[in-house]
Amino acid sequence: MKFRRRLILYKDDHGVITVPLTESDFATIEAAAVAMADKLASVARNSISRDGQAVLAVSGGKTPLLVFSHLRQQDLDWSRVTVTLSDERWVPADHPDSNENLVRTQLLQGPASAAKFVPLFGGEATPEIGLAACEARISAMNRPIDAVYLGMGSDGHIASLFPGEPAALRSHRTKCVAVPAAQDRRPRLSLSINTILKAREILLLYAGQDKHIAYLNAKETEDSSNNPLSLILFQQETPVSVLRAQ
Ligand code: 6PG
Repeated sequence: MKFRRRLILYKDDHGVITVPLTESDFATIEAAAVAMADKLASVARNSISRDGQAVLAVSGGKTPLLVFSHLRQQDLDWSRVTVTLSDERWVPADHPDSNENLVRTQLLQGPASAAKFVPLFGGEATPEIGLAACEARISAMNRPIDAVYLGMGSDGHIASLFPGEPAALRSHRTKCVAVPAAQDRRPRLSLSINTILKAREILLLYAGQDKHIAYLNAKETEDSSNNPLSLILFQQETPVSVLRAQ
């Protein structure tokens, strides 16, 4: 049940309306996840009817389990859909922590198994070594991503763009960035902020007060070194829809 939908239009210094930020509140994370699945399917249908194909980049983590269970049931021409990831932990594709494993087992099932999947993990020893091949796989999709579904952490990270990782947060000409391991965090590979911002639409889903505080902080500061989420809030390229349950 959607409680509130606010469309905030950013104005630049000349008062020109820029990128729309839409915020939708839901009573439960389940309701927000269903809405996310519906939005992703709607984006895919529109892209397929316009261009004959669609590219979705989806989040990893735990929340997507709720989204994927609804998304895989959507009536879509999945054979025209390419699915990739917003980011990946650098573990084998059959590892329980693998986002590829999550997508293959929880999303690409039934009719959705007809979709093409483009992995970020390529089997190399480190994400730094695997970066070039990942870059080539993303480039070979030869199409902007139609929608990037992002989760966020209570530290304000999105995809695998974490506070305190300046190299990963910098704008990149590359489509992917390697993110080194940190305390209780595996090495990862992430879409770069440039790739995320070049998508036609960014969809953010989160739940819980901690993440809501991080979201409000990100809206208050452009300091992406401490709050990478601000990278997608302070920009004038891509519409952002925020779906949240508190
Ligand atoms: C990952 C995700 C990551 C995730 C957030 C939220 O690989 O972990 O891409 O960015 O979206 O950490 O994760 P939860 O949904 O599990 O809270």
